[in-house]
Amino acid sequence: RRTQVGIVGAGPAGLALANALTRQGVDCVVLERASRVRVEGRQRAGLVEDRTVRWLRSQGLADRLLVEATRHDWCDFRCLGHTVRVDYGAYSGGRQHYVYPQQSLVRDLVATLEKAGSPPFFSHTVRAVTNITGRRARLECEEGMEIECDYVVGCDGFRGISRAALPATGHRVHNRRYPYDWLTVLAEVDRPAEGVRYAVHRAGFAGMMPRGPRLSRFYLQCPPGEPVTAWPARRIVAELRTRLADGDPAGVPAIGALPEVRMLRMHSSVLTPLRHGRLLLAGDAAHVLTPSGAKGMNLAIADAAAAADALVARLRDGDEGPLAGYSAARLADVRRVLGFSEWLLALLHLPADPAADPAKELAERLATVRRLATPGARARAFAHRYVGSGVR
Ligand code: APR
Repeated sequence: RRTQVGIVGAGPAGLALANALTRQGVDCVVLERASRVRVEGRQRAGLVEDRTVRWLRSQGLADRLLVEATRHDWCDFRCLGHTVRVDYGAYSGGRQHYVYPQQSLVRDLVATLEKAGSPPFFSHTVRAVTNITGRRARLECEEGMEIECDYVVGCDGFRGISRAALPATGHRVHNRRYPYDWLTVLAEVDRPAEGVRYAVHRAGFAGMMPRGPRLSRFYLQCPPGEPVTAWPARRIVAELRTRLADGDPAGVPAIGALPEVRMLRMHSSVLTPLRHGRLLLAGDAAHVLTPSGAKGMNLAIADAAAAADALVARLRDGDEGPLAGYSAARLADVRRVLGFSEWLLALLHLPADPAADPAKELAERLATVRRLATPGARARAFAHRYVGSGVR
């Protein structure tokens, strides 16, 4: 079997890429290890940025999202008993976040591929990507299928296999470990979270993200390396209430069952460069960020958009330029976004340094978030970076 572009992985990156290529008449094949039911059922991200929606729209992929997504254009910071509302919509020229579960977007993207007659091959595990500097790259599946490709895009996530095809030298992985972990919790709630709430508290950071009328996602800062078993449900709920309400019990919904509790080791990892020969990397296969700022899925789709443009230019028009610039352009964006995500982490967590004075640290943070809520250059810069307007 032969194709122009072989895509490993049917997450947001692989599916967005396949849709954009198919739409422009470039032949591609998506191979996905998991079953369709599993891929379409995974609950992960849910905040879609302004620039992501604009791109999805331009590809005819946002119809259901535009009907069903809830719009968000403010977030609350709770600090020292004060709630500071940041109207980032107003400061970014009316831009908004769209709350739309990743699994809905994934379902939409699979459906359009199916309609175009080129659905992903689910339950197909790629065992190796070979010959990436030869005349044709090759994808080898455990199930026996082999595909020759002009280009391969590894969209197979953080633990994917496509990076194993890179030569041993000439590549670097930039890892960073943060001095805390996050307990991530999906919880049933008695009323929807009206918006995102970030609590900067003496006991640690806590966050609340809307996910729907009866479900919210919560984050709780924990000491690094703490086992998830240290957090029985009762402790989680009590600690969420303490940190998120911080004297304002009405600001937090009643929390019921916790269908998902996981401990997230807080780290980031960026691979450079993102291309070698006929292999490009996109999404989590190339870079992993913490959930701070909800950037992962948006970066994955931005990579897919750039990879699609580059491959269309090369394969349809014979123009090598965008492909040659793919890695540098994407890494510049990834670094900018990572910088913002880390700035937000630093705002939300008190320093671990025992010499630091928590009262002073909290007062400084309150002053910072108040500046984000006051018209001016700071508020505008935050708003654009937070909403992902694409404006630098
Ligand atoms: N063969 C085929 N498929 C594979 C293989 C393999 N050897 N290894 C992994 N995969 C598949 C996984 O099963 C998964 O469906 O690759 C897909 C990778 O998808 P994601 O992990 O969702 O990665 P990506 O598309 O880059 O999107 C990542 O989305 O969930 C958000 O914020 C999150 O940053 C994250 C972003």
